[in-house]
Amino acid sequence: MALPLGEEVLAGLGGFEDAAVVKVADDLALVATVDFITPVVDDPELFGEIAAANALSDVYAMGGDPWFALNILCLPCAFPAEVARGVVVGGLRKVKEAGAFLVGGHSVDDEEPKYGLCVVGRVHPERVVRNSTLEEGALLYLTKPLGVGIVTTAIKAGLASEEAVEKAVESMRKLNKEASLKMLEVGAVAATDVTGFGFIGHALEMCSSGEFDIVVEVEKIPVIEEAFEYASMGLIPAGAYRNREYFSQKVVFERNVGDWEMVLFDPQTSGGLLVAVPEDRAGLYRYPCVGYVVKGSGRVVVR
Ligand code: CO
Ligand code: CO
Repeated sequence: MALPLGEEVLAGLGGFEDAAVVKVADDLALVATVDFITPVVDDPELFGEIAAANALSDVYAMGGDPWFALNILCLPCAFPAEVARGVVVGGLRKVKEAGAFLVGGHSVDDEEPKYGLCVVGRVHPERVVRNSTLEEGALLYLTKPLGVGIVTTAIKAGLASEEAVEKAVESMRKLNKEASLKMLEVGAVAATDVTGFGFIGHALEMCSSGEFDIVVEVEKIPVIEEAFEYASMGLIPAGAYRNREYFSQKVVFERNVGDWEMVLFDPQTSGGLLVAVPEDRAGLYRYPCVGYVVKGSGRVVVR
């Protein structure tokens, strides 16, 4: 979609950036995003925390510092008032943890519950971290484990173990704040957050310039280990199959990776940052290193 862009729009429609970026002064740009999700857990406060962390993540992925946020809440009007309160209390907790303010919002009567935030953050216009500005030799890091889509599918089927639920919930409610601050410190060249398109889909966004391939060393990827067991039981979200169908043409599996395959396509809620750090500074970024960037044609190579 080609819409006229003003020079002040540093990131907008087109491209796969995580949020819009608009320059308002030589030393200030605003990073804006809106994101809301359906419940992944039953507890209203936990759901609020997860949905808020998920929405804030797009600002962090671009190197932004969340400034203020507005609620988006959709609930059936028959729900007790405590549910709405719980969701919003959870969301507010994460907005505060991010150092931002909750300044308003909007709620709608809706049969299917949904919650999220519109978030505006601040970034220096020259420090915006884009997602497809890879460079050769950069190392690739993933800051949270994969598998939360598979585990939440197991939760819905009533088959997830307590430990698996706890690992998935802890991961989803965790802010990408520190991962983002550290990526700015080490001078990351590109980053995105891993969400609905899964690890592979978001890795492909990073090589969308068509000049590089990302080589992934599958054994190095952090994962909630129960996800393998649930995947082998067929507890795989429909989105993982859609992702595989959509993206597999641009993925090269150099060997049979077994249950890893669906984990790599698993859609994530509030997933980690996928960060490319230049080789000479790579040792300073203390998260799992999962691959590297080579000259190529915009593919993900799994080995
Ligand atoms: Co994103
Ligand atoms: Co998003």
